[in-house]
Amino acid sequence: MSAPSPAPIPASPLSLRPDGPVEIVPGIHWIGALDPGLRSFDVIMKTANGTTYNAYAVRGTDGVAVIDTVDRACAAEFLARLEAVARYDEITVLVLNHLEPDHTGAVHELLRRAPQAHVLVSPRGMQILRALLGDEADRYRISAVKTGDSIPLGGRSLRFFTTPNVHWPDTQCTWVEEDGILFTCDLFGSHYCDGRLFDDLVGDFRFCFEYYYDRLMRPFRSFVAAALDLIEPLDIAVIAPSHGPILRTRPRDYLRQYRRLTSPRFADAAGTDRSLLIFYVSAHGATGQMARAIEAGAAEEPGVRVSLFDLEGGEIAPFIDLIEGADGIVLGTPTINGDAVRTIWDLLVTLGDVETRGKLGAAFGSYGWSGEAVRLVEARLQALKMRLPEPGLRVKFHPNEADLDEARAFGVRLAQHLTGRAQPREIDFADLAAR
Ligand code: FEO
Repeated sequence: MSAPSPAPIPASPLSLRPDGPVEIVPGIHWIGALDPGLRSFDVIMKTANGTTYNAYAVRGTDGVAVIDTVDRACAAEFLARLEAVARYDEITVLVLNHLEPDHTGAVHELLRRAPQAHVLVSPRGMQILRALLGDEADRYRISAVKTGDSIPLGGRSLRFFTTPNVHWPDTQCTWVEEDGILFTCDLFGSHYCDGRLFDDLVGDFRFCFEYYYDRLMRPFRSFVAAALDLIEPLDIAVIAPSHGPILRTRPRDYLRQYRRLTSPRFADAAGTDRSLLIFYVSAHGATGQMARAIEAGAAEEPGVRVSLFDLEGGEIAPFIDLIEGADGIVLGTPTINGDAVRTIWDLLVTLGDVETRGKLGAAFGSYGWSGEAVRLVEARLQALKMRLPEPGLRVKFHPNEADLDEARAFGVRLAQHLTGRAQPREIDFADLAAR
């Protein structure tokens, strides 16, 4: 007896994929692309719901502006939607709010078809755009725009806000004041693919909105806050990002949510004190002894709240909020096999998830033979653009009384660098390498 044929899978009775462009307001359309199958974005984040690459067409009486394009794999979809709302010879402006490939994959083809378009990018975007276009760059009219600049389209205008490092140096926002629509590219995005497009129509994307902030924007917290300073005064009716839902329902709520997300959860944990966190791992107790001596020294400085954590007794993730709100981070590790121990490396890697630029950093540890760990930790802290005012402290084998006195003094000096009582200084990386 032959096996019964499987029942055919019924076609979805409802297509959530828009066939053509989608009107936001008369004359302004979404012309982007859907990528529901994407499961990992930029290697750094998962996309269980796929994503969208949002691009837009803005029509004025004097021409059409295209704002951003899409990933190269979706170029045909984008061009088809664009053709449904404008002829190529009507396109007067191409705004590229950000030049990462997921938004510039159709730029070459679009410019081949609309070579007259005036390409507008942020000042930092110029270099990337020229690299992207290569020899073709000279064929096109390319200009940098900055905060305060605007371009008339006839009945509508585009105004620009330079909002760097959210999350690349080139990022900017474009504002259509007449309609109250702010095109924010990655800012306010979500990797959430739903062809109904608008926040009041799509599924529940709240997790994706916050997860996206956490993975993409959080390391640039202060730049996001600076961008919010620029755009909060606008009378915004719609936030149109380049990924995920278009935000037209109480857009100010999204601004408030971003403001909340950019505020470190434990920012006020130390009150008016400066917060210094010491993390360590100790193989035989020696690095732990140093840690406690550094803690005791730092605690002598008025105005510094010092906290000590043995990472053998804790996972890394719960400390991240604390680190984001801290003013200084000191890491202690023994040298084992010529390296810092894995737990400390795990913490150092995780530090890349939050903004550490400008925070005080320092390293210490005991060693038996070669003692590379402290130098390696310092190099990583420096790569994170932290401020290292004191060369790391190393002790061979177990610390004696003099070593512990020095550790205590090291703690005092670090704390004084936080309160401003120590002369500001920065150790030279060349000095680190020589040690
Ligand atoms: Fe969506 Fe930074 O690209």
